[in-house]
Amino acid sequence: MQANHPLPVDPDRLLAIAEKWGTPTYVYLEAMIRERCRSLKSLFPEMPVSWLYAVKANDNPHVIRIIAGEGFGFDTVSYEEVLLCLKLGTDPRNIFYTENNMTDAEMHGAASQGVILNIGSLGRLAAFCKAYPGTECSIRIKPDISDGHHAKVDTGNQDSKFGIRLDLVPEAVNIARKHGVRIRGIHAHIGSGIQEPENLLAEIEVLLKSSVNLQDIAFINFGGGIPIPYRPGESPFDLERFADLASDRLKKFLAGAKNPVSFFFEPGRWIVGPAGVLLTQANTVKDQGRKSFIGTDTGFNHLLRPALYDAYHMVVNLSGTTGREEDKTYHIAGNICESGDMLALDRTLPETRPGDYLAVLDAGAYGMTMASQYNRRALPAEVLITTEGYHKTIRSRKSPEETVDDFLRETGMAAAQPDGVS
Ligand code: LLP
Repeated sequence: MQANHPLPVDPDRLLAIAEKWGTPTYVYLEAMIRERCRSLKSLFPEMPVSWLYAVKANDNPHVIRIIAGEGFGFDTVSYEEVLLCLKLGTDPRNIFYTENNMTDAEMHGAASQGVILNIGSLGRLAAFCKAYPGTECSIRIKPDISDGHHAKVDTGNQDSKFGIRLDLVPEAVNIARKHGVRIRGIHAHIGSGIQEPENLLAEIEVLLKSSVNLQDIAFINFGGGIPIPYRPGESPFDLERFADLASDRLKKFLAGAKNPVSFFFEPGRWIVGPAGVLLTQANTVKDQGRKSFIGTDTGFNHLLRPALYDAYHMVVNLSGTTGREEDKTYHIAGNICESGDMLALDRTLPETRPGDYLAVLDAGAYGMTMASQYNRRALPAEVLITTEGYHKTIRSRKSPEETVDDFLRETGMAAAQPDGVS
């Protein structure tokens, strides 16, 4: 195993899980999730700052329960995420639903259960106000400040599909007023994996200024996007410095505010990203001339980030590699039938052999939630290492037979005859 690897947990534990549960398997650390929630909560002492967890980063119900237990509410972006949180017992008032091209049915579903709707277009705001006069909502604006680890996750720029344009906020106010709807919140989210803390501070400024025109304002939500380091040697986002700078500004704002206002942040990745690894097994090692490949039993169907965003995830060989040849450089390939299915490129690892177990790090956020059954493969299992140190299955893996049988059932072909007549 490589020296100084930043594995979040003893590699022998991961090996034991790989051997017992098989691979591919996502493993999450409860203690680390809790610790990260607590460190966020300590950032703004004695200020009206609350934290929402962006469910889309990792929506395993056990993970949601853990984070709820740390006093977080939830940022949801679909009616299904809303329902998931409700069914897990979350008070609807602790669920914030940032809609994105919401349907009428989704609007009625969420609004009728008392969930706060965060509305991102004038058309949807008008529909909401007409259907629910005299109630409350929040609006999402587009601050024209953009950031993010990749263009595909940069949401605050002028051309992004999200949010109400700043110059249209007065119109939003008019629409709401006409129906007696109180705009209680204003929100923006500039992107995921923010590169420049200054952009987040600039966004805060825009939101604070815009809120002044909203006479019923009760909360301001600054969105998520706190990054984590993925590459060796990359420095972490300086949260303390950010919180210091933001606190000064927020305190000034509160001193001049007419009504009591509270603030929200809604991170996902920062909480769960480093607390998860994807375990996979090498099954093929081959020299293709210019490159040597390690072939694994997972792929972009299970961890899409490298293929979709050229994202970097560290990979560690967990198996006992002492006494083998010196380190080699490999491409680490998935088992999906596309040449773009590469988990990692040009990685120096100890000589790796078929049967070795590998850990793909920082996979706790946007790993399983973005997984698919492409190539008709089963999803990975998920295992939680509990705070007490137990290993608990929190999602079981389907066998290939179950995977195909379920598919045939769902498509109404379970009883199909060979000639296609059922
Ligand atoms: N709030 C809203 C409205 C969001 O759209 C997002 C993420 C978050 C909060 C949480 O952002 P975070 O703190 O996790 O950066 N699949 C991509 C990330 C997409 C994030 C989309 N929105 C990835 O794997 O990098």
